[in-house]
Amino acid sequence: MGEHAKLTLEGKDYEFPVFIGSEGEKAIDISSLRAKTGYVTLDPAYVNTGATTSAITYLDGEQGILRYRGIPIEQLAEHSTFVETSYLLIHGHLPNKEELQQFSGLLTRHSMIHEDMKHFFDGYPQSAHPMAILSSMVCSLSAYYPESLNVYENMDIQSTRLLSKLRTIAAFSFKKSIGQPIMYPQDRLSYCENFLQMMFAVPSRDFEFDPDIVRALNILLILHADHEQNCSTSTVRLVGSSQTNLYAAMSSGILALWGPLHGGANQAVIEMLEEIQRSGMKCSEFVEKVKDKDSKIKLMGFGHRVYKTYDPRAKILKEMTDLILSKKGKSDPLLDLAKELEEAALTDPYFIERNLYPNVDFYSGILYKEMGIPINMFTVMFAIGRLPGWIAQWKEMMDDPNSKIGRPRQIYTGATEREYVAMDKR
Ligand code: ACO
Repeated sequence: MGEHAKLTLEGKDYEFPVFIGSEGEKAIDISSLRAKTGYVTLDPAYVNTGATTSAITYLDGEQGILRYRGIPIEQLAEHSTFVETSYLLIHGHLPNKEELQQFSGLLTRHSMIHEDMKHFFDGYPQSAHPMAILSSMVCSLSAYYPESLNVYENMDIQSTRLLSKLRTIAAFSFKKSIGQPIMYPQDRLSYCENFLQMMFAVPSRDFEFDPDIVRALNILLILHADHEQNCSTSTVRLVGSSQTNLYAAMSSGILALWGPLHGGANQAVIEMLEEIQRSGMKCSEFVEKVKDKDSKIKLMGFGHRVYKTYDPRAKILKEMTDLILSKKGKSDPLLDLAKELEEAALTDPYFIERNLYPNVDFYSGILYKEMGIPINMFTVMFAIGRLPGWIAQWKEMMDDPNSKIGRPRQIYTGATEREYVAMDKR
């Protein structure tokens, strides 16, 4: 018999099995708690709750380890492409040549969006945030692929279709926002080249790729591709657990990602750095402001629910940003400022005591900026990167014969039963 946890309630002992993951992570399986005891657990923000078992991503926040399907993120960033990593996440193994060709072929075949959907872009005001457009467009895809309403039909085609179209939608919304003609995807180009072409090419000029930028984009997307049960992924799982269609579930993930405490932090970091630059404030002064809880200001791009050490993705991004800029013989005052701010924070007792380190969003924006991506598109880039992870997590849940609709409990703290009082007696 395996290890058990003992719980004593109202003088009675109960035993619950201990579940041990493949990396030795331990959990008390309380799935029978309510049936056995009548109690539920109370764990706001799910700080201690394992909502699922999963074989996709392993994350050790104390040691700064991140692996997709067992492969360290550092190795994937060095050797893989975003398409290959997407296959790995969704299908569970690295593809052989044939599998990769077939997967890439599907991505190429499904890259266009229905011509009628182009009119949707005209309906948005110029000021529309691209995340609002992206989430609505993704949900609207379900209208064009009604077979998606049967969630178990053609799951692979549905998800590959979305993987390909998301980058087309993102690029179209950018072109619309700057008033340039839309550029269609081209079959001869790779996934990342195609995205850059749709974003930055214009019909009147030849477009040349900078191989360093293509590689940097691959790496950025790989680094964002999955991060186990974060806010947006948990949202995708919860929404998807009602067996709503793939597009609706992924659209909910995009919306959860938008917030500044999650994927929206990449935009917030650059806005913060620009504000510090504009105001002429010293980094040490800004750090003091952040430490004052009344200021309601946070050091954006710092801190993480799981990482209590340097986020391995931030480490890779910092080095890559340095490399790209030095190759171009350029410097970026915002990068210098970010490094100065990092130094000021990492030597401050407030940050040391709370184990607050840079997360993936601290340096990504500087690199996006270097690629010519506008600030309000940063979180869209995150969504493009995270999509294979959301799909893999959704598919894992849908393939699990024991998965159930997600439905947390609550502990009610409102008024106990009372009588309705007529308007003239109140
Ligand atoms: N700046 C200043 N103080 C911070 C920061 C920060 N960025 N992050 C955490 N803290 C402080 C909290 O105020 C709290 O202090 P206290 O113990 O005195 O009350 C302590 O550190 C613990 O922080 P929590 O808020 O309890 O940590 P939680 O796990 O709930 O939040 C989060 C994690 C949301 C990422 C938080 O660190 C944060 O808001 N960071 C800034 C936003 C950001 O960069 N988000 C991107 C995260 S990565 C991603 O989603 C892709």
